[in-house]
Amino acid sequence: MSSEPESKGRLTTRTVAMPADTNPAGDIFGGWVVSQMDLAAGICAGQRAQTRVVTVSIDGMSFIRPVKVGDILGVYTYVESIGRTSMNIHVEAWVRRGRIGHREKVTEASFKFVAIDDDGKSMPIPAEEDLPDYVDLNSDF
Ligand SMILES: CC(C)(COP(=O)(O)OP(=O)(O)OC[C@H]1O[C@@H](n2cnc3c(N)ncnc32)[C@H](O)[C@@H]1OP(=O)(O)O)[C@@H](O)C(=O)NCCC(=O)NCCS
Repeated sequence: MSSEPESKGRLTTRTVAMPADTNPAGDIFGGWVVSQMDLAAGICAGQRAQTRVVTVSIDGMSFIRPVKVGDILGVYTYVESIGRTSMNIHVEAWVRRGRIGHREKVTEASFKFVAIDDDGKSMPIPAEEDLPDYVDLNSDF
């Protein structure tokens, strides 16, 4: 039985923190972590909306633990709530220390995305039952 702590949502992206992404103190720059979270949240929101999406706000951004060079960063996402044209995506970033060490949550936040049309105007999020048959919201890719 695994004693690993539990993350909320689906593992959406995974990458390695590299030396180029450090701040002057040698830890990973917070802006890099936020951009990884934004990328993953955008994948989650785009899958649900099946159209272009843009980030409109970030709430409750919490930096819990530092990220270090060599950590694997995994970003977990799920659709928290859906408005008319917007969606809140819950995002948690976790690290596997030094690729093989223990696993812990480093950040979390709620990202709001808006579905937009070709002209960049907000558009309604389709109901799940109106999505084309080929769309599988449970697909990892
Ligand atoms: C997203 C954008 C198209 C919305 O335009 P808008 O004229 O405010 O559109 P609407 O008034 O129709 O609002 C759309 C939805 O966004 C929500 N919203 C708009 N601005 C918001 C803000 N600052 N914070 C939270 N929610 C916001 C509205 O509540 C609405 O939600 P709902 O339809 O689910 O009720 C526009 O603000 C935009 O293009 N922003 C830039 C996005 C971007 O470039 N992001 C990348 C970051 S660099």
